[in-house]
Amino acid sequence: MHIPTLIEHKRDGGVLTSEEIHYVITAYTRGDMPDYQMSALAMAIFFRDMTTEETAALTEAMLHSGTMLLWNDHDPLRVDKHSTGGIGDKTSLILAPLLACDNLWVPMISGRGLGITGGTLDKLESIPGFRTQLNEVEIHQVIDRIGCVMVGQTAGICPADKKLYALRDVTGTVPSVPLITASIMSKKLAEGLNRLVLDVKWGSGAFMKTQEEAHRLADSLVTVGEAMGVRSSVRLSEMNEPTGESAGNALEVAECVRCLQGQGPQDLEDIVLDLASAVSISTRSDLATKLHSGEAWRKFQQMVEAQGGNVSVLEKMATVHRAPFIGELKATASGRLMRMDAGGIGQAVLELGAGRSKAADAIDYAVGCDQIAKTGTEVQTGDVLLRVHARTKGALFRTLDFLPEYIDIV
Ligand code: URA
Repeated sequence: MHIPTLIEHKRDGGVLTSEEIHYVITAYTRGDMPDYQMSALAMAIFFRDMTTEETAALTEAMLHSGTMLLWNDHDPLRVDKHSTGGIGDKTSLILAPLLACDNLWVPMISGRGLGITGGTLDKLESIPGFRTQLNEVEIHQVIDRIGCVMVGQTAGICPADKKLYALRDVTGTVPSVPLITASIMSKKLAEGLNRLVLDVKWGSGAFMKTQEEAHRLADSLVTVGEAMGVRSSVRLSEMNEPTGESAGNALEVAECVRCLQGQGPQDLEDIVLDLASAVSISTRSDLATKLHSGEAWRKFQQMVEAQGGNVSVLEKMATVHRAPFIGELKATASGRLMRMDAGGIGQAVLELGAGRSKAADAIDYAVGCDQIAKTGTEVQTGDVLLRVHARTKGALFRTLDFLPEYIDIV
């Protein structure tokens, strides 16, 4: 096959065959196809899109570019969720141990945050000692003992996605439905799942800005999942205000601990229970009982310990990572809180140092916002709308000046 001809064919709106797609992905993974050709092809896909069959073939080729987690027939059902990411989206840390209490196995492979959306691995790494880079033997050992494991992509899983995602990130080709679908689903399918729930968000704090875009991505993800034998469902949700009441790594782990102890904010608990019941064999109310009884909290502690984390600090995360400057943003009027904009808060938290602008940036676990008030609440002048945790006094004042533009009280 002649790669320049395949690029031209896609550029002109043609449809690539499964063999052509497998050929390209194999050549790229081996280093036989240079980045400049793959960038041209990714841009052609961005403009010309792909059919459902092409997207499925791309997902399959990326999945088979590396290894998969292998399971035995008599093993418990493997389930997972994928979220397209948002501000304060911390549901994975509660969901994985909750599902493991239901005799399901949750081999969760997660990512790091990039841009304004936080990443599960960064949150977990704020727990002193917690190891997110386990090899495949260690993943199986933790799953066998605990029923859930939360790790980063191993060296063997989907190497094609690792290369292609890094290339897309610097060539303006991230927001393409077929490329996103193949990237997300190849990694999830490599977990060897039976069931998957997709948490697809839209809004100011999400990757997809409109409900229509989110629908299109959700349809594509579910279609590919089902075509590859994984029972897939979707929960579409708005991300115009943060999930829960905190955003920032250690602050979010502290909130997850409260939720696992049955004292989480209602919106966070609702999302967790909705997602869990989509892949579980138990009812939503049985899952709520497991959450409120402390069973999921005990499972979380076992998982943290199995992955090298210090369990004794879990209830003191905000003290272990205490930012030097903490300030309150107060309401300057009385009325109903109508907007607490996720995009604005995400930007503020990123600039405080909790996220990354480039993959190599270091992150500050202590900074972020907490006690974030929920829209719909009646507030009085002087009530605290949120607290800002900053590394420097300058950063604190900049954030307190920046945020009011993203908050409306009517
Ligand atoms: N997350 C992924 O893993 N891949 C994408 O392409 C976008 C988000």
